[in-house]
Amino acid sequence: WNIARRDAVMPVGALTELLPEKHADFILKYGKTENLYEYVMSEHLRISGLYWCLTSLDLLDKLESADMDLIIDVINGAKNPDGGYGASKGHVSHILHTLCAVQCLTTLKRQDLIDVDAVVGFVKGLQQADGSFYGLNEEADNDTRFSFCAVATLYLLKKLEEIDVEGVVNYVMQCYNFDGGFGTYPKSESHAGQIYCCIGTLATTNNLERIDINRTARWLAERQCPSGGLCGRPEKLPDVCYSWWVLASLAIIGKQHWIDKETLVKFILASQDDELGGIADRPEDETDPFHTVFGLAGLSLLGYEGLQPIDPVFCMTTRTLGDLSFATKPPE
Ligand code: FPP
Repeated sequence: WNIARRDAVMPVGALTELLPEKHADFILKYGKTENLYEYVMSEHLRISGLYWCLTSLDLLDKLESADMDLIIDVINGAKNPDGGYGASKGHVSHILHTLCAVQCLTTLKRQDLIDVDAVVGFVKGLQQADGSFYGLNEEADNDTRFSFCAVATLYLLKKLEEIDVEGVVNYVMQCYNFDGGFGTYPKSESHAGQIYCCIGTLATTNNLERIDINRTARWLAERQCPSGGLCGRPEKLPDVCYSWWVLASLAIIGKQHWIDKETLVKFILASQDDELGGIADRPEDETDPFHTVFGLAGLSLLGYEGLQPIDPVFCMTTRTLGDLSFATKPPE
């Protein structure tokens, strides 16, 4: 399992217990820092950032501490007349931020604020003749991430039948590589983030039988480094966010046990900051909400005590998703 060679150094005396209170404080701080440099400079990530923060709080069972009215104002402000959501008020609609807005409003139990027909119209307008999706109107970039975002958005709104599902699946399968991985476009390099998106698309549309499960699971399991951390591609350093992209992909195809759980838990716990709170990409780096949510989500998938159970396809708690939660039934 330790074929990946480049690795992070595990510090002596690294943290070995989760610090849930610290992480909740760290995340809540982001709602109170409008004038900080970091807040201003992250405008292009605002709605995604809200999704990372809300999901972290949901995993920590602290959702009630979030400033609901402020969050809803920000999300409504990012809604555009074309039916999609931008990163923030005044930003063009993008499929990624549209998914994040739908995820946030689902988490807040406020799907009633979504103009479902308008969102469906926006998503449908991004699908191309070959089944792929652009991320935003008029930009010819049919990345498999956008296929997943489109499918997930419509699944959460129970409107999957509104797009050409067979077309999406055929396009995603064109991006399936000989090594068992998936790339961004047909014939591009396998990458764990794209694998998560492609497997999520296949799972959501009931098409997992179209891949060679063992070959894909092997590529994913080979991402574990001797430190226990997971990397996104061969020869890359381990990164906590891949505790999600790799582990969730393995969970969806029923092969989570192909990686060593104990050392991965140690790697994620060692990446916490016990003063400021939050989780970083790897031990001793600076923490941020992106790595915090994917670290917590990875720990939840690994069954770490005290965290709400997470859905491996949507990266939202199963409690929040209710009947929308994806019951993973890996193919025989
Ligand atoms: C790594 O990107 C990650 C990906 C390519 C996956 C991105 C996934 C989505 C957009 C779907 C999000 C949805 C949910 C439910 C979480 P990177 O640019 O950091 O890659 P690098 O590590 O190679 O730089």
